[in-house]
Amino acid sequence: LREPVAASAPGKVIITGEHFVVHGSYAVAAAINKRATIEISESNSGSSIVYSNKTRSPLFLNDGRFVAVKKVARSILEEYGKGGESIALSISSEIPDGSGLGSSAAVSIATAASLLRFLGRNDDYDNISKFASLGEKEVHGNPSGIDISACLNGGIILFNKKSGAKPVPMDRAIQLLVVFSGKKRRTKSLVEKVSERRKDYPSFFENLTGAMSFLSLDVVDALTSGDLPRLGALMTLANASLSWIGVSTTLLDQLVERANAKGSYGAKLTGAGGGGSIIALPKPDLATSILKSIGQNFRFSFLTSLPQKGLTWEE
Ligand code: PMV
Repeated sequence: LREPVAASAPGKVIITGEHFVVHGSYAVAAAINKRATIEISESNSGSSIVYSNKTRSPLFLNDGRFVAVKKVARSILEEYGKGGESIALSISSEIPDGSGLGSSAAVSIATAASLLRFLGRNDDYDNISKFASLGEKEVHGNPSGIDISACLNGGIILFNKKSGAKPVPMDRAIQLLVVFSGKKRRTKSLVEKVSERRKDYPSFFENLTGAMSFLSLDVVDALTSGDLPRLGALMTLANASLSWIGVSTTLLDQLVERANAKGSYGAKLTGAGGGGSIIALPKPDLATSILKSIGQNFRFSFLTSLPQKGLTWEE
């Protein structure tokens, strides 16, 4: 029997530039302290199976379950001629689906990394990224690639569709508050909604995309110099722009308001919007009290320090 192989990858938040990154701007994203783990072992049932603690589903059945994981695993088995192999893929994830926190990217990466290694195939980052992107596409339509880059590399990245990811060096850690609104949404339909807005105001949209690039470069400066008031201000402006393109909701606006009122330098929706999550940059001495206050109504709320590690193979 082959030894089981397990890998884990973090979720992510987008600090600035979501949506605009699809249209060519720079964006900044960071790995967070919630992870997804996949373990691959030989299946003793004679057929391949995917399971979590809640449910199980045959790998080659299209039942709408584990869509990203199945796409990645099947593509790898097809590519390497191992379709006859019986494997068991066990998923355990701390990242809620549809929360905008990179759940599909994290499971796609952990699946690609663990399965490639299990089969003794090329498991360098390029090959992992190639297969993981297929899982992301299955869920997101036409993603910019920022989620896969952030979750695979870890840390904080400056990302652009043309130039890819550059790590942002950090002298000291910073702390972010993350709050999941509880409302799941589909990234694909929000990305389409933004394209509609762009059609109505093409010139303004183009300039706003350029502005978001400059803003993301300023965010990198604020991060590396540890300038929290400036970082918070830039997050606030980014949120106003996301609101203008129509991806915020009353609930997200209220969460952002509350995080600001309780003592943050700034806050914004993160990811595709329409639901999902917000991030806030709390004043350091108030971080725990803001979490306590918001966490009473929004159970999936947590603090994460940045940077966090990317893909790891588990012992
Ligand atoms: O994965 P989400 O839902 O956090 O959103 C990804 C960010 C978008 O810019 C909206 C889409 C993309 O592919 O870049």
